[in-house]
Amino acid sequence: MKFFLDTANLKEIEEGVSWGCVDGVTTNPTLISKELGGDIDFRTLIKRILDIVNGPVSLEVTSTDSRGMIEEARKLKAFGENVVVKIPTTIEGLKAIKVLKAEKIETNATLVFSVGQALLVAKAGATYASPFVGRLDDIGEDGMSLIGDIKEVYGNYGIETKIIVASIRHPVHVRDAALIGADIATMPFEVLRKLVSHPKTDEGLKRFLDDWKKIDPSKLRF
Ligand code: G3P
Repeated sequence: MKFFLDTANLKEIEEGVSWGCVDGVTTNPTLISKELGGDIDFRTLIKRILDIVNGPVSLEVTSTDSRGMIEEARKLKAFGENVVVKIPTTIEGLKAIKVLKAEKIETNATLVFSVGQALLVAKAGATYASPFVGRLDDIGEDGMSLIGDIKEVYGNYGIETKIIVASIRHPVHVRDAALIGADIATMPFEVLRKLVSHPKTDEGLKRFLDDWKKIDPSKLRF
């Protein structure tokens, strides 16, 4: 299973990559908007992210018509080979995905909330589909059951579109996505940090180090 960071924050991306656990990055207009200001414009931010990350980096279009999406996608792709263009799951988005597939530009269909949408973006040629589990949980639905359903349906037909579990809110989402066998989980840095933490690990380490300090130093020659 691959882990992507769902952030445009350079410090978070640098830190996550240094842990050896980050295979890629996903962004969206909201995440990008939080990072721009001062001497950082969009171009500078994207170039810095691409300098840090070797794996796929999803950058989202903001046009709503297919022609605009396609033009934006070509410009975004020019930033780097590992750019994946995020396209909203709409009729115009499907048209754009079809054209971009023919141009060998990888796409990540975003804002997927149903099996039907997941099937359509796959048929149009999306490289990745991003169902949003947290936002379904927010409205009283079971986001993770959608992941199971999409996994099963894609399996039924040998569909190659990869499932990115998005809108992850906590480590249990990551565990459940892994149990289902989703290809990728994209998560905020805070969730990645929580995944590594366990109170019994901290307690156990403290006990080991306390016991080590009790040893006569003369007995500790390597
Ligand atoms: O980037 C897409 C998705 O992961 C956003 O998550 O937390 O805003 O629902 P969230």
